[in-house]
Formats: sequence, structure tokens, C-alpha cells
Amino acid sequence: MVNDFSFFLPTRIMFGLNMAEKVGEEALEMGLSKILVVTDEGFSRVPMFEKIVGRISDTGISYRIFNKLKGEPDIEIVEEGAAFLREAETDGIVGFGGGSSMDLAKALSVLGTNKGTVDEYMGVDLVREPPLPLIVMPTTAGSGSEVTRVAVLTDHKKNYKGAIVSNLIPPKAAILDPGFLATLPPRVIAETGIDALSHAIEAFYSLGSNPISDILAKDAIRRISSNLRALVANPQNVTAAGNVVLGSMLAGAAFLNTGVGNVHALAHSLGTYHHISHALSVAVLLPYVMEHNVNACMDRFAEMAVAMGANIEGLPLREAARKAVDEVRYLLADVGMPEKMSELQVTDAHFKEMAADAAESPPSLSNPRRCTVEELVEVYRKAL
Ligand SMILES: [Fe+2]
Repeated sequence: MVNDFSFFLPTRIMFGLNMAEKVGEEALEMGLSKILVVTDEGFSRVPMFEKIVGRISDTGISYRIFNKLKGEPDIEIVEEGAAFLREAETDGIVGFGGGSSMDLAKALSVLGTNKGTVDEYMGVDLVREPPLPLIVMPTTAGSGSEVTRVAVLTDHKKNYKGAIVSNLIPPKAAILDPGFLATLPPRVIAETGIDALSHAIEAFYSLGSNPISDILAKDAIRRISSNLRALVANPQNVTAAGNVVLGSMLAGAAFLNTGVGNVHALAHSLGTYHHISHALSVAVLLPYVMEHNVNACMDRFAEMAVAMGANIEGLPLREAARKAVDEVRYLLADVGMPEKMSELQVTDAHFKEMAADAAESPPSLSNPRRCTVEELVEVYRKAL
């Protein structure tokens, strides 16, 4: 029996090597005349950035650049960007970069048309006016933010990672160009690629999964797990890059509709309390949360094991299901991820508060296994 569902994917997706050069044409087609380009400080210095901004000005569109972002976006950087945006009076936004830049660009697109401060829009469906048109170009393959309805923002005052969640904020267009990955350090490719894999896994076993998200999530698991090693070994491997970039987007399109689960619930707390990046927090927790979830949906785990290349022929379901966790562990080891949180200088000092925050956070709602705070503390302990 298939549960009732609806499926949502409002973003136009353009994929191809050198597709980034089409950004100006795409903006022109949307009727934009003055653009705010949002990116992080590091990326605004690479030659590729200059080249692509050049493509925007070739079309006669004028632009301003906001490149103050360092690390993950917080409320302060959004307010600073919003002041810049309102003063610049642009009619659209182009966001370049990883998930952090795209989330900042989404938040700014909201404040371009909605009055007041960003905290008024943090929460679910609080955005009133349609945001400024937004084109994004992911330069890493991980967050899936190019197609999702979430902009994650840190609130330092509350020591909490919150988010603007709204069906109005997915970008109008996402330009996926595997060429961006060639210049990334292998470590970044590994961490972000595992984040993308975790989106696909959590979407596939989500309580909110549906027949369309299943197809996307499983294909994402297959593409990422079979190409990430080669891409980490050689970031200039265009075939592997294309598959990981696609996998990341497909995983985003899946979890846009299904939500994620306890990997993300626990990772958000870990990142907030211990100042560890989102991708690394996810990578270190992924196999432990999977292990905790396996009994809730063994058939789903067995399917994932096959998608990751495991041979489950002749195995009882229980063993076949556990192969999915094994495959993830092999991949994490092969791309150099830490096995334990203690390798990241995490201690057990805040486990209770971290688990309590995780238990109340939205991702935990779609996790297949119902968990108490004590059980989540136990998952942290195993991962320590
Ligand atoms: Fe993630």
C-alpha cells in the first residue's frame, strides 16, 4: 500500500560541463537587470568566479557582489547582506558556492521582498511575499540546497541552528556544472559527498518517503557511493564529478519531499555545541545512526546495500540489511573520514542537552525509529 503523498520540485535544473557560463543568459531570460551576486570570501578570489561574473556583465546585466560570508551563515551575516541588498536595489540574486552560500542567498532573497529582520521568517512557512528570483550554482556537491526549501542559519544568541523553511524559497534555477569540483581539495569533496549520501539515505528510509523520492534517493545512493572514491582520488575526473553532482541534487530533490532524519538531528546539535562543520558532523554520525535505525526498516536497508554494490544473495534479511551499514563504513574509511567523534576533540560534556535539542528538531520527525532522549545520548556515546 502506497501512502498518500504530494511531490514538489519547483526549480529548473540545468546540468553540464561549462553550463555555468549560461548564468547571464538565464538571468536575462528571467527578466533581471540588476543582480546581487552572493558568495563566500574564498570563492570570490578564484579565477572561475571572475570568469562567470564576466558572463553576467556580457549580457548587459549590472551586478553588485556580496562576498563577506566566512564558514556557515548566521543571523548577523544575513542582516549585513540584507542592508547591502536593500541599498543596492537589485531585482534578482545569483548565489555561488557551497550550501552555506546558497543558504545565505536564499535568506537574502526573502529579505529582498519581505520587510523586517530575518528572525521573523525563521520557522516553517512564515515567508509572506515571494522572494527575489534566485539562480544558484553549487560549487561543491553536498548540501542539495540548490533545490531545497530550507536555508539553515545559526543563531549564536540561542546557540541553535534554525532555518527558514518555505515552499517559496527554492531557487528559480540551479545550474549544475561539474567543472567546479575540479578545483576543490579532496577533503572537501569527501565531506560534502558524504553529506549528500546521508541525504539520500535519510530520504530513502524516511517516514515521509514516496515512490518518486524513492527513485531519486536510490539513484543518488548508487551514483555517490560508486563515484566518490574516484573523485576524491582525482577531483579532475569529470565523469565521477558529474555523477556526484547529480547524486547530490537528486538527494536534495528527494529530501525536499521526505525530510531527513536523526543523522541530521544529531549532527545539527554536534555542529552547534562543538563548532564542527555540518558535513563533518554528518559524516562521523552516519553509520551509528544507521545502526540504530536498521531494525525499523530492514527491507529498505537491504535495498540500499544493493544500491551501494553489496552482494546480499542468499543472506537472511537481517544480515542483508546490515550490509548497508558496512558499505557506508567502507566508503567513509576509503575517503578518509574520522571513525569517532573523539578524533574531533568532542567530549561527552553536553550529550544530554545535545540529544534533547535533537529530539525536538524537525529532522527527528521523519526518522524511521522513534527515539527517546536517552537513546539519542546512547548513539552519541557509541559514536564518541
Ligand atoms: Fe546535510
